[in-house]
Amino acid sequence: MALLDTVVVVTFAFIAIVFVSSHFRRPRAGEYPPVVPSFLPYIGTGIQYIRNPSGFLGSCLKEYGPVFKTRIGGRQLIVISSPDGINAILRDQHNVFKSDFMHIELIKAIAGLRENLLPLQEILQHQIAPMVGRTLAKTSMRKFTTTYVERLLQEMNTFVARSEKGTKAVSLMEVVGRSRLAAVCHALFGPSFTDDIYDDMNCLDESIYARLHVVPFNWRRSADARKRLIDRLSTYIAQAEEGSTLGDLMSGTVDIFRANKLSLEEKAGLLLVFLWGLYANSTNVTFWALAEILADEKLAARLRAEIDGVVHAQGVIGRDNAPCVTDLPTLLRADAHALDGSGLSLLDSVVQETIRLRQISTPIRQASCDTELVVDAGAGQRVMVRKGEYVLAHLMGAHWDGRWYEQPNRFVPDRFATSRYASGLEGTDGESTRPKRTGLPFFIWGGGREICKGRHLAVYEIKLLVALCVYHLRITHADSDKHEFGLGSTKLLPPRAKKQSIGVQQTEHDVMVWMNPAGGGN
Ligand code: HEM
Repeated sequence: MALLDTVVVVTFAFIAIVFVSSHFRRPRAGEYPPVVPSFLPYIGTGIQYIRNPSGFLGSCLKEYGPVFKTRIGGRQLIVISSPDGINAILRDQHNVFKSDFMHIELIKAIAGLRENLLPLQEILQHQIAPMVGRTLAKTSMRKFTTTYVERLLQEMNTFVARSEKGTKAVSLMEVVGRSRLAAVCHALFGPSFTDDIYDDMNCLDESIYARLHVVPFNWRRSADARKRLIDRLSTYIAQAEEGSTLGDLMSGTVDIFRANKLSLEEKAGLLLVFLWGLYANSTNVTFWALAEILADEKLAARLRAEIDGVVHAQGVIGRDNAPCVTDLPTLLRADAHALDGSGLSLLDSVVQETIRLRQISTPIRQASCDTELVVDAGAGQRVMVRKGEYVLAHLMGAHWDGRWYEQPNRFVPDRFATSRYASGLEGTDGESTRPKRTGLPFFIWGGGREICKGRHLAVYEIKLLVALCVYHLRITHADSDKHEFGLGSTKLLPPRAKKQSIGVQQTEHDVMVWMNPAGGGN
């Protein structure tokens, strides 16, 4: 009898849950913006979102349109994918939509700090970020790019030496990540910052998604990596404060730290947040650009021809003042900005297309007062946002919209080299934060006051690394049986992207490559 009672109760409970959930699953007619239904109190759609954020937002966009509401882990979010709406959040109404909460979450997840968070966020956002913007402005960057190039070439040559021994292919992720990090740290932090922090940085980066979304991960490895990084940065800051020679960026940072009387742990924590921003997105974008090029021999050949044109045109003056063609490293040593000019429209387009396709940033802001957010200016469509509510700018929703980008989910290397797309770009060549023309939604750097402060450095580095790997080092996809990874891991080019990443997609598998330097690889 007791067993029968239990069965009856369970059956009724099940029917009730199905009834209640099916009721809540239906968005209420006429409701604007539509609410993504969920029968889980507090958690809302958090489980679907955390399992696959881009997939979840993409399918909601398809079902509910460019504006919808959803509850994720206790927060009511208004998700906006329309270009006008994204512009309003990031640029036009930035005084209303505040990003304080995002910075605090990053400080907690990356630096592990738990106290004094509001002042730390304020320092990061209103003191460090603008100073980084000034130091990494297009013209200021020239102060350190020669040092950058020299260190980059030195680091890449160690991979060439390994690959030339012929016993092992090298990891593309490592070539990109290790070389970039060594060069950028050397150029920005000065020669006293010599430690190799790549393995720890990479390990920390791999855990950021789990840390931010509080999901289980191998915390011990990541916590150990973070501790070593914090220790290393603390030692460096202490040396820097005693007056070792520093570049503009570090002297500016040390001044800010001093003025705000931060503890050593807080200083090292903030520096780590900055270092992660410097490392993660650019490394992943460079990896994807190279993986796409490895998958397309014709594209590789076209890029080589384009770069060859620049190398020939800018050949250095040889003996008796006769112009002679040189190799790419020599050209870059003579002029660290040799790849900046016109003549590389395909390479420029590959960089922009890779970011358009792989960028999954979802800038979140909190409304500081009740306001009407413009969703579609032409149609006069607006949405009411109440004080304290969160809005999420779904950049991928705009970048993957077939109304603006044909075959939006495909990598089209020439996309931004053709006139239709080239005319709509947001300025990557000036300091302007406003789109040159309004034709196309293009938010790869965010927008407005909080536009990416490292965008000029990012484009500079990605172009340099791609040109060196494709033209000078002539990297090729390695046979899968000659390295440590399983067959399945390398057969696919480009590899699959992880569903769970932050900022720019991360790869599910590494890609192994051979390096075949043209002309000896000096
Ligand atoms: C391809 C590489 C990169 C991409 C796609 C990228 C993208 C972005 C985006 C979309 C934002 C805006 C976030 C928001 O509005 O909430 C942003 C902000 C920022 N980025 Fe980048 N970024 C890249 C590389 C870099 C690099 C190399 C640095 C160097 C330090 C950097 C430093 C920053 C900083 C400091 C901010 C915050 C700006 C502020 O709050 O004022 N980024 N980035």
